[in-house]
Amino acid sequence: MSERLADPLAAIEPRPHWTVDQLPWGELESSRIASDETMFFLLASASFVETMADLYTENLLEHYAGDQEVMSWLSDHWQPEELQHGVALKRYVQTVWPDFDWELAYRGFFAEYARLCNAEQLEVTRTQELVARCMVETGTSSYYTMLRDVCEEPLLKRIAHNIRNDEIGHYKYFYRYFKQYAEREDVSRWAIVQALWTRIREIDAEDGLIAYKHAFQVRHPDIPFDSSHYEQFRKTLNTITRAHFPFEMAVRMTLKPLDLPPPVERWSVPLVVSGARYFLKH
Ligand SMILES: [Fe+2]
Ligand SMILES: [Fe+2]
Repeated sequence: MSERLADPLAAIEPRPHWTVDQLPWGELESSRIASDETMFFLLASASFVETMADLYTENLLEHYAGDQEVMSWLSDHWQPEELQHGVALKRYVQTVWPDFDWELAYRGFFAEYARLCNAEQLEVTRTQELVARCMVETGTSSYYTMLRDVCEEPLLKRIAHNIRNDEIGHYKYFYRYFKQYAEREDVSRWAIVQALWTRIREIDAEDGLIAYKHAFQVRHPDIPFDSSHYEQFRKTLNTITRAHFPFEMAVRMTLKPLDLPPPVERWSVPLVVSGARYFLKH
């Protein structure tokens, strides 16, 4: 793969197409991951959230009604790719943990989460919503980069790598559309900061807990769920994140829509990176 494709801040380039069926499922080494509870919850949760892309797409399509370019990209590229991430992760979870009833857990997750996911969650202006989408794709690209780097099971490494590149591609398209709208709508830098901040605050919000809870209830039907299980999981995850999260990449992607002058960016990136690390320690 070219350097530019892997670089989230480089221009858009066509990505190699991959399919779930073409992945080498026969090479999966279950014994290297099956006993890892953290990985189980991480992957089950990710598979639920990716599979939910259907719901977001409807909301987004409404928000960009009349803009043929954005609407076609969302429905012809973005949505099928997000759904494919869900299919790949679901199949992976079902193969490694065959006793886990994925459909049952997903139904529970869907019923609870769908109520929270409505058009009111979208930002007011199209520009601000595109900034928020850049932020979401920054989160997913960084998350899958980390997953690729920490996991030891070779097929998962490959899946995480493929998904990561797709998410970076999504970021680039949302960023392109953001630039187009920023010129038309004349949105201030402050409004952009607000949209970014709203999304940053939401990162740790409900979807993580809801996904974990439904995966937990199906995996351990004999143990009543309480929030301390989730807190323990978050603690373990924070330890992994501190050591392996691609902070610098994430910060650069987050700040890009602000279009800061280069000297400001030079000092702000290390500052925000250390701020994010500090935040995770506490
Ligand atoms: Fe995705
Ligand atoms: Fe994405």
